[in-house]
Amino acid sequence: MKIGIIGAGQIGGTLTRRLTKLGHEVCVANSRGPASLADLAKETGAKPVSIRQAAQAGEVVVVTIPEAKIPNLPKDLFAGVADDVVVIDTGNYYPRQRDGRIADIEAGLAESRWVEHQLGRPVVKVFNNIYTQHLLERGRPAGSRGRIALPVAGDDA
Ligand SMILES: NC(=O)c1ccc[n+]([C@@H]2O[C@H](COP(=O)([O-])OP(=O)(O)OC[C@H]3O[C@@H](n4cnc5c(N)ncnc54)[C@H](OP(=O)(O)O)[C@@H]3O)[C@@H](O)[C@H]2O)c1
Repeated sequence: MKIGIIGAGQIGGTLTRRLTKLGHEVCVANSRGPASLADLAKETGAKPVSIRQAAQAGEVVVVTIPEAKIPNLPKDLFAGVADDVVVIDTGNYYPRQRDGRIADIEAGLAESRWVEHQLGRPVVKVFNNIYTQHLLERGRPAGSRGRIALPVAGDDA
């Protein structure tokens, strides 16, 4: 598949490594621009791109940046992106340690709904409840013992 990844940190970098290894075509972006992703591109064969190019790049687009940074993404990031492109949210809300308090979430809005409002786009939540190192190292082929199940949550069939 063609996959865009916005965020190239612990989870974005891990997904870039794992998904390219599985043969997917990955375009990856961060806040500092493609030049800063040269090492990851060399290591994985992923294409370093701008965030707008990453949003347009795939059948699936993964948004994997700290929750508090989501509002910094352009409001029209997904304008013109086909409705059947699945947007994945890996985010977790850490008000004390990282994100500060986000009023709507504090008032009871589910955090992925808040992300949807920010992006103007439905999201499917996945990869948010596995530690990055385990995502990198503990994948096992179907049929083997000790596989890890990951929940996928969304209301897009
Ligand atoms: N780490 C884990 O084990 C883990 C597990 C499950 C879920 N999560 C969640 O997944 C999300 C990502 O976590 P992480 O640990 O991968 O974060 P991280 O290592 O801090 O990486 C954050 C990435 O987001 C990019 N970024 C920040 N603002 C951006 C913007 N405005 N536009 C484009 N890129 C931007 C950063 O790019 P620059 O470096 O260029 O700024 C960096 O590549 C968080 O919500 C986290 O809670 C993390």
